[in-house]
Amino acid sequence: MKKLFVKTYGCQMNAYDSDRMADALAPAGFVTTAEMDDADLVILNTCHIREKAAEKVYSELGRIRGLKTERGKAGERMMVAVAGCVAQAEGAEIMRRAPVVDMVFGPQSYHRLPDIVARADNGARVIETEYPAEDKFEHLPEAAPDKIRERGRTAFLTVQEGCDKFCTFCVVPYTRGAEVSRPLDQIVAEAERLAGNGVCEITLIGQNVNAWHGAGPDGREWTLGRLLHRLAEVPGLARLRYTTSHPRDMDDELIASHRDLGALMPYLHLPVQAGSDRILDAMNRHHTAADYLRLVERIRAARPDIALSGDFIVGFPGETAAEFEATMRLVEDVGYAQAYSFKYSARPGTPAADAADQVAEAEKSDRLARLQELLTRQQRAFNTACAGRVVDVLMEREGRKSGQIAGRSPYLQAVQIEAPADLIGTIVPVEIVSAGPNSLNGRLAGAGTGGHA
Ligand code: 5AD
Ligand code: SF4
Repeated sequence: MKKLFVKTYGCQMNAYDSDRMADALAPAGFVTTAEMDDADLVILNTCHIREKAAEKVYSELGRIRGLKTERGKAGERMMVAVAGCVAQAEGAEIMRRAPVVDMVFGPQSYHRLPDIVARADNGARVIETEYPAEDKFEHLPEAAPDKIRERGRTAFLTVQEGCDKFCTFCVVPYTRGAEVSRPLDQIVAEAERLAGNGVCEITLIGQNVNAWHGAGPDGREWTLGRLLHRLAEVPGLARLRYTTSHPRDMDDELIASHRDLGALMPYLHLPVQAGSDRILDAMNRHHTAADYLRLVERIRAARPDIALSGDFIVGFPGETAAEFEATMRLVEDVGYAQAYSFKYSARPGTPAADAADQVAEAEKSDRLARLQELLTRQQRAFNTACAGRVVDVLMEREGRKSGQIAGRSPYLQAVQIEAPADLIGTIVPVEIVSAGPNSLNGRLAGAGTGGHA
């Protein structure tokens, strides 16, 4: 038995991939450990989306070098791998900069892991960052039933990978490649497998999840809305979510699903990035601020209580003070329940990185502080408005304080209640008593359901 430690950075796609790597290595005798110190194989599953995310990898590798040397002195071998999007983007450079690294492989190679690790074990330094011609979804390692149970009642399921939209700030089209949809029958089979092993909430993931399309059994081309309807029929699946969506791919059927499908949770992450039409155009977003606001209106008409979440970039090259104010106005107009916001970070190889009119760092910081203050206020307002309501909470784990358990509301808020631990894994009605900026406190408001039909 060998011990595997995987550290995950970045998005849900990476979280999903980390589990698939563990699944791929299980037949080779690797069991996952929560401690890096005694691992035989350490994998850093990296993110390249912003500069800071990529830098973290090199500082972590610095720490690992010390650890590997210690282990070496004790006569123990520790193998080190860099996976994920930094690996894909700068594989050879990692090998040069960090001699501690034995293996570098990109997201398209995870199914070949046992072979890659065996080669490294024989002393080779392995780089695998090619895009193979074959379909990666064909080879996705499956989780064993006990693994699924161990991972709990919620799960991610990849339905789509990659992106063809080419926003001018973004590395994803280069690290994850072109948009590919996973075939319907594979998705349904995985959903059934997850549900059959206790999972009651599935989040469909993809960089451009709402661009998913595939051949349906009726001979028609299905889009995400139809897929959600199909998955809602899987016995045991009480909750469905999907992320991340591009405004351009929110079609009528998907919007209607938010009205018609009880299992589809009222939460939508719908990044807009900026509020100025000139900046949106320079970002190559292919929509205006007004288009986005109209879309939000249609979504809210279908599901009035939906919690909207977004991503924002401040200080995109050439963004003036007035253009930034347009972002603030758009946020005021929409009213977000939750959001992520970032300073623009030039990513090598992307069109905007070479623009001459980069915004000064101090200016970016000021804008970000103002935007985050507004978004935090909106998040608090959304949470406070839940006080007094009864919402269904999927209890997932023990709470921070003893005697408490914690879970998620339909709106993806963290909720704590005082209740026995045997309610973990069930969906219970909870009356929200008080709300903080990041979580809610509530009390049990009746008997729950097993979450399983
Ligand atoms: N700089 C800053 N933020 C970025 N994002 C993507 N690329 C960049 C970049 N170069 C943000 C976007 C995206 C989220 C995942 O990360 O807001 O939606
Ligand atoms: Fe980061 Fe994008 Fe890679 Fe996810 S897909 S890990 S966000 S670079």
